[in-house]
Amino acid sequence: MKVVIDMGRTIGVGVVSLGWMGRLHTRAYKALAEKFPEIPADIRLVSCCDLVEENRKLAVERLGFYTAVEDYRDLICNPDVDVVSICAPNFLHRDISLAAAEAGKPFWIEKPMGINAEQSREIAEAAEARGLVTSVGFNYRHTPAIEFARQLISDGRLGVVTNVRVWLLADYASDPHGPLTWRYDPERAGAGVVLDLMGHGEDLVQYLLKRRFTEVSAASETFIRQRPKPLKGGIGHAGWIVSDELGLVENEDYCAVLARIENGVMCTLESSRVSVGPRAEYIVEIYGTDGSIRWNFEDLNHLQVCLGRNNGALQGYINCMAGPEFPEFARFQPGAGTSMGFDDMKVVEAAKFVQGVLDGQQYGPSVADGWASAEINDAIVASCGDRTWHDVMPVSGRTTFDK
Ligand SMILES: NC(=O)c1ccc[n+]([C@@H]2O[C@H](COP(=O)([O-])OP(=O)(O)OC[C@H]3O[C@@H](n4cnc5c(N)ncnc54)[C@H](O)[C@@H]3O)[C@@H](O)[C@H]2O)c1
Repeated sequence: MKVVIDMGRTIGVGVVSLGWMGRLHTRAYKALAEKFPEIPADIRLVSCCDLVEENRKLAVERLGFYTAVEDYRDLICNPDVDVVSICAPNFLHRDISLAAAEAGKPFWIEKPMGINAEQSREIAEAAEARGLVTSVGFNYRHTPAIEFARQLISDGRLGVVTNVRVWLLADYASDPHGPLTWRYDPERAGAGVVLDLMGHGEDLVQYLLKRRFTEVSAASETFIRQRPKPLKGGIGHAGWIVSDELGLVENEDYCAVLARIENGVMCTLESSRVSVGPRAEYIVEIYGTDGSIRWNFEDLNHLQVCLGRNNGALQGYINCMAGPEFPEFARFQPGAGTSMGFDDMKVVEAAKFVQGVLDGQQYGPSVADGWASAEINDAIVASCGDRTWHDVMPVSGRTTFDK
């Protein structure tokens, strides 16, 4: 049964948690009227939920929410909330999304969807059973350079794709004096860098190739085993106040994976949250029999493209700069050379979600795609544990990675 919601011309939004991602979802909804004026609905920021009073005050007094609550159930049962953004720490994703599904409210959930594949399956099946339109925060899909690369691959310009290299190296946890946030606790985060960063790389590969991972072999390590306990929370990785007392880091800082993808494609993935040097170096390289592409999030407005093998002395990469010729670029900037940024990807994600809700169609990354990433992550974690290859379990439901 598909739920098509008749909201007239207003969509009431509820945002659960006003940390880094909750603020970004809020900004993205606000940007829709300007960047996607053709979407035939006005966004109304109805309710925000956060445990921290300061965040609730910010929501109402500065960000334009009509109300702010402490318990997400009060947000979900508010009759003026039509859609829900789920931006809470990972361990809360399951309960919040099951409550949203139960209430028949479409939701946009941050990745990873829950702390393991079992929770992701529950979330996906609950949304699917209600026919809900959803979205998952795989924002890198929406970069114009990635969409352009996907078109080149799908047009066969790289020939037959043979292998893929992905690495996601960040420094957000490189300081041993940095706070022991929820991200280092398996009960609140699940796995470490595998869920936090590697999932983005997996989804990007599946989206670019329109193929699923089938098998993985992996190894992981925790390099910084203790961190100071926080006295006061921050936003994302910043602004935390810590005590002198140390606590244990109980999930991995680093993981390396060798994987197989459908149609005989080979893949390596590497991810670290403690790199010193790369700040947020998220690189995807796709190699084919007739060419290759390279993209780096730190330089997201460029795509390196090599087409053909017979270019003589000019054989090599063209460094293409994103401009109005790339999908969606012109909505954000009128000309090449003026850069798009991270927030803009989220605006595209919000647009796909809201337009999908209005049409009763799935346009953005779906809960089945969130579940697919979780199955890869579960297989990676299992392989790190027993040092053998693991099959990646298939998922069901509406997907968009191959559309
Ligand atoms: N798509 C991306 O690129 C991306 C980037 C960062 C984070 N994320 C994901 O977004 C989610 C949130 O991460 P973040 O960095 O915004 O976290 P954060 O630590 O900045 O914020 C978490 C917020 O949740 C609130 N909170 C805690 N318990 C709550 C409860 N019971 N009810 C309501 N609110 C509660 C906290 O007060 C805080 O404001 C995570 O799942 C994370 O993996 C995705």
